[in-house]
Amino acid sequence: MMAGRGGSAVAGGSAPHIPVLGGPAIELLNIHDGGVYVDGTFGAGGYTRAILAKANCTVIGIDRDQTAVALGAGLVEDAKGRLTLIEDRFSNLDAVVRSANKDKVDGVVLDLGVSSMQLDTAERGFSFRLDGPLDMRMSDEDEGISAADVINAASERDLANIIFMLGEERQSRGIARAIVKARAQARIDTTRALADIVASVVRSRPGDIHPATRTFQALRIYVNDELGELVVALEAAERVLKPGGRLVVVSFHSLEDRIVKTFLADRGETRGGSRHAPEIETRALTFRILTKRPVIAEDSEIERNPRARSAKLRAAERTDADARPGVPVGLMPQLPSFDDVMRGR
Ligand SMILES: C[S@@+](CC[C@H](N)C(=O)[O-])C[C@H]1O[C@@H](n2cnc3c(N)ncnc32)[C@H](O)[C@@H]1O
Repeated sequence: MMAGRGGSAVAGGSAPHIPVLGGPAIELLNIHDGGVYVDGTFGAGGYTRAILAKANCTVIGIDRDQTAVALGAGLVEDAKGRLTLIEDRFSNLDAVVRSANKDKVDGVVLDLGVSSMQLDTAERGFSFRLDGPLDMRMSDEDEGISAADVINAASERDLANIIFMLGEERQSRGIARAIVKARAQARIDTTRALADIVASVVRSRPGDIHPATRTFQALRIYVNDELGELVVALEAAERVLKPGGRLVVVSFHSLEDRIVKTFLADRGETRGGSRHAPEIETRALTFRILTKRPVIAEDSEIERNPRARSAKLRAAERTDADARPGVPVGLMPQLPSFDDVMRGR
């Protein structure tokens, strides 16, 4: 691991992460004495702290970011045996739960995306506002591929597809063309260099979001396989939750929310059936949906924390039916593989 990864942030240090939708998330987890809860996105420990304060329960905290796990050591100590903190990806939920000597759990909560600490640390390369190496990996620097790898190796077509699908950026083709042209002159290795290239293509008016917002979001989601992680974690949560156990997911963009909504609709709603046709869905439902519509933040929370503006929370309660293998077809967008991208095919 290179020096400085968790290092200096913007002047004055990185802003502490303010938990989003913490109140409803904790409420819907239905926390009780003796319960075991998994906080799959420990971050700055905001949710975990609230869970531990609510009842005499235990928490298994997971984060793929070793800096977040290291910073959580104080909380582990304060929790006096009630918190186990593990550096891993939440897609490994089953194995993590087993490694904490548990079989089933009473709740799983995922608060997706990046933390303020990650965004505000220039060396992590997540931010177009701060100049840093174009990295964007939440996990160890030696794991997977970096944003710079993608930007410098992917074909123009793959770049355009990634930026369009994961950033919902209408000017993806123009951006991909500009990236390929610029990298023919020199490697693109910094957040500032990429932000400038994108800004040369995407015109913005005062009051608009930064022109590089959608491109940076797309790269971050791609590099960290965020949608793949979510799909695997939802299936794992179905396996590890006890009957009556709760799943709570807070997402920050439409692609994530669509995955959660579609998964829960598949597991938690009786499909079809009419006066004339028999019920189509005959398999036992594995979840009871608790949020017919997603919970969103109140204006007062958005005022305090603008990040809450795009947050959507969905929750469901596990039934006693057996977990199902597989997920609905088309749940994941068809993205190029890391190998294809690195080959620049
Ligand atoms: C929005 S923050 C969570 C903040 C937390 N709820 C709090 O109150 O402080 C998201 C965290 O999840 C972590 N994360 C994102 N994807 C992950 C994954 N697939 N596996 C494990 N951790 C992940 C990130 O490293 C980050 O620290």
